Amino acid sequence: MQTSFFTRLVALAAIASVVAAQTPPDCVKTVITKLGDTCDKICAANSVSTYQLETVNHDIVDGKCDNLVPNETLCLGITGQYCDVVHVVQTGDICYEVAYQANITLTTLYANNPNINSTCGNIYPGEVLCTSSVIYPYNTTN
Ligand SMILES: *[C@@H]1O[C@H](CO)[C@@H](O)[C@H](O)[C@H]1NC(C)=O
Ligand SMILES: *[C@@H]1O[C@H](CO)[C@@H](O)[C@H](O)[C@H]1NC(C)=O
Ligand SMILES: *[C@@H]1O[C@H](CO)[C@@H](O)[C@H](O)[C@H]1NC(C)=O
Repeated sequence: MQTSFFTRLVALAAIASVVAAQTPPDCVKTVITKLGDTCDKICAANSVSTYQLETVNHDIVDGKCDNLVPNETLCLGITGQYCDVVHVVQTGDICYEVAYQANITLTTLYANNPNINSTCGNIYPGEVLCTSSVIYPYNTTN
């Protein structure tokens, strides 16, 4: 009886440590996913960019962000790479206009959103872009 209690306790502790290991130690803020969440929805609600969320959680979230399940802990960003000035892309938006409206250069927009391609043809309504004038040193190699 007592043995099985402790066995379960150890098993629970193991699960907890696996979950904790997925959140980076320098994580600024976490969210718990809800049923029906998408990366873009979480980003818009928390004012972080889609690129940032997907980069920080690349071990959990797949490239299309279609594998989220409820009750997952996601990190919104890590210390020093936490952009919280954002723009939610609207139908018809173009990068030049987004940068202009945010009073930043196109170069800064591209630096903070390395997922935007050179013709700005791959942004889409609902995507959340970092429009901060501060350039964040995102590690783009992973
Ligand atoms: C998520 O966690 C809450 C609280 O722990 C629980 O009530 C709920 O059933 C969980 N939902 C799923 C889908 O696991
Ligand atoms: C736009 O940015 C420039 C340079 O960063 C700054 O001097 C200016 O005050 C800003 N304008 C507005 C309206 O925020
Ligand atoms: C950018 O992405 C759009 C949409 O996927 C595509 O049509 C366009 O060719 C891409 N541009 C470049 C330079 O890859």
